[in-house]
Amino acid sequence: MAVDINQIQEKIHVIIYAYPGEKRYILAMMQDLQKICNYLPREGLELIAEHTGVAFSEIYSLATFYKAFSLVPRGKYNIKVCDGTACHIKGSAVIIDQVFNSLGIKPGETTEDGLFSLETVNCLGACAIAPVLMVNEKIYPKVSSSGLLDIIKAYGGHVHEDGKS
Ligand code: FES
Repeated sequence: MAVDINQIQEKIHVIIYAYPGEKRYILAMMQDLQKICNYLPREGLELIAEHTGVAFSEIYSLATFYKAFSLVPRGKYNIKVCDGTACHIKGSAVIIDQVFNSLGIKPGETTEDGLFSLETVNCLGACAIAPVLMVNEKIYPKVSSSGLLDIIKAYGGHVHEDGKS
């Protein structure tokens, strides 16, 4: 869901200033920020730069380097479709297409209601049960087209019979 930055501005300040203004705490600040906001708001990164004295460009490139961080708001339910070799062979591209058909989102996007976001990852370390996807921390093995629709429905997604939400 979209985060109102004004509502959490003070919280962001508290999160960041809970740490000493030293470079070695930057990742911890980002982790806390990601946990609370579900993404890294630009205002938060600017405050980290201000607090630690590290250039904003450096903070920004750190934030983009780690896949765990998102610079845009993620949905309440973050769908990670594995597109590593084993999952790709087993049809992950079809799953990614079907998420688009069902929810209208491509990797890196979030549904307008803020419920779902989609990202692709390289390998979830579960190749034996490919194709695999995760919703937040829950892993789903051997996902089929119909299985995907059931998963989306289980999280409150409205999927019509033709696969469109
Ligand atoms: S390639 Fe998908 S879990 Fe390894």
